Amino acid sequence: MENFTFYSPTFFAFGKDTEQQAGDLVKRFGGSKVLIHYGGGSVVRSGLLDRVKASLENAGLAFVELGGVKPNPRSGLVYEGIELCKKENVDFILAVGGGSTIDSSKAIAAGCVYDGDFWDFYCGKRIEEALPIGTILTIAAAGSEGSPDSVITKEEGMFKRGASGDAIRPKFSILNPALTQTLPAYQTACGITDIMAHLYERYLTNTKDVEVTDRLIEALLLTMIYEGPRVIENPDDYEARANIMWAGMMAHNHSCGVGRSQDWNSHTMEHELSALYDCAHGAGLAVTMPAMFKYVLDHDVMRFARVAVRVWGCQMDFDDPRKTALAGIEAFKKFLISIGMPVTFGEIGAKKEDIPKLVQSLCYGNGGEGKISGFVTLDEKDCAKIYEMMI
Ligand code: NZQ
Ligand code: ZN
Repeated sequence: MENFTFYSPTFFAFGKDTEQQAGDLVKRFGGSKVLIHYGGGSVVRSGLLDRVKASLENAGLAFVELGGVKPNPRSGLVYEGIELCKKENVDFILAVGGGSTIDSSKAIAAGCVYDGDFWDFYCGKRIEEALPIGTILTIAAAGSEGSPDSVITKEEGMFKRGASGDAIRPKFSILNPALTQTLPAYQTACGITDIMAHLYERYLTNTKDVEVTDRLIEALLLTMIYEGPRVIENPDDYEARANIMWAGMMAHNHSCGVGRSQDWNSHTMEHELSALYDCAHGAGLAVTMPAMFKYVLDHDVMRFARVAVRVWGCQMDFDDPRKTALAGIEAFKKFLISIGMPVTFGEIGAKKEDIPKLVQSLCYGNGGEGKISGFVTLDEKDCAKIYEMMI
C-alpha cells in the first residue's frame, strides 16, 4: 500500500425528511447569507426548493437563488454565480440537486475567493480555498456530495475538465433517498453506472497488496448488482434507494481509493463524449467501459479475472484466466444492458467520423500532451482504437 493522506470532514444527515435540517446545518457551519444553486427545475416541480427555503427562513438566514444548471454544467453559469455571490456578499453556497449542480456550486465557491479566472483550477491548479458548501442531493450518481472534485465544461472549445482540492469537499451533505424517487428510470440507471465506474476506476490499480480497498470495492459492486435491478423494477423501493445512495457516496469520497494507484481513463475518455454529444455521464461510461476494459485486459489479466470471480460469479478457468476475465467484462456489459443503458456509440448519438476530433481534444485539448495516464498509459492511437471498439 502506498503512503496517503485522507481528509474527509463532510457531515452527513441521511434519511427521510432530512432536508428540514438545511437551515440549522448552514448556521452550524458558519453561513449567514446563502446562495441556493439548483438545476433545470426538478427541485421546483418536486416542491423541494420551497421546503429548503422555508428551512432557511426558519433559521433566520438570508438567501439569493440561482437556478439553471445543466447536466454537464457549463462555465457561463459559474461566472454568473461568482459575480452574484460577490455582489450579494454570499458566505455559504447550498447546492440543491445532482452532481452537476454540486459541481457548479464548487466552481463558484472556489472562484469567489480567487483573483484570477476560476478555469485555472480546471487546467491543473489545485483548489486551496473556497467558500463553504452544503449539498442536498437528489440523485445517487456522481458522488460529488462527498468528493473533493468538480467537473465543468468550458463553452469555448467545449472542454470538459475536472478540478480538485479538499477545500471544496462539502461541509455537510443531506442525503434523503426518498428525494431520488422522482428520477426517471434512465437517470437512475445512469447513476448506478457512474457509481460502478467509480469503483472500477479504483479497482484497476498497479499497486500490490491493497486487500482492504479491493474488498471494500468488491462489496460495493456486489451491493450495486443486488440493489440496481430492484430499484429499476420498483422506483419507490426506499430501502434499495437508500443502499444505492450510501454506496454512491462511499464509492467516490475516496475511502476506497486511498493508498493505491487508480485508473480514470474511462472517465477521461467519457468526458469527451458527454462534452461533444451532451449525453448523460453514466450513459457515456456504459459505452466506454466494456471497450476500455477489453483493450487493457492483457495489462493484468488476473485483476480482471479476480473481479469476474468475486463480483460476477464467474467460474475461474485456471488453464485460461483470460477467458474468465473476458466473461467478467461480458457479465458487466449484460448488466448495463439489463438496466437500460446504451453500450454502443450510435445509441448516444456518437459518430465514427468524429473519432479524430474526440482524440484530438482528449490528447491535446486544454494543454494535453498527447496521451492519457491511468492503469495503462494510452496514446492517441490507443484512444482511437478504443473509441472504434465502441461502434
Ligand atoms: O436539472 P434538473 O431539473 O434538476 O434535472 C436533473 C438532470 O436533468 C435530473 N434530476 C436530478 N435529480 C432528480 C432529477 N430529476 C427528477 N428527480 C430528481 N430527484 O437528472 C438529470 C441529471 O442530473 P445531474 O446533476 O447532471 O446528474 P449527476 O449527478 O449524474 O451529475 C453528472 C455530472 O457530474 C460529473 C459528471 O461528469 C457530470 O457532469 N461528475 C462529477 C464528479 C465529482 N464532482 O466528483 C465525479 C463524476 O465522475 C462525474 O464526472
Ligand atoms: Zn463518474
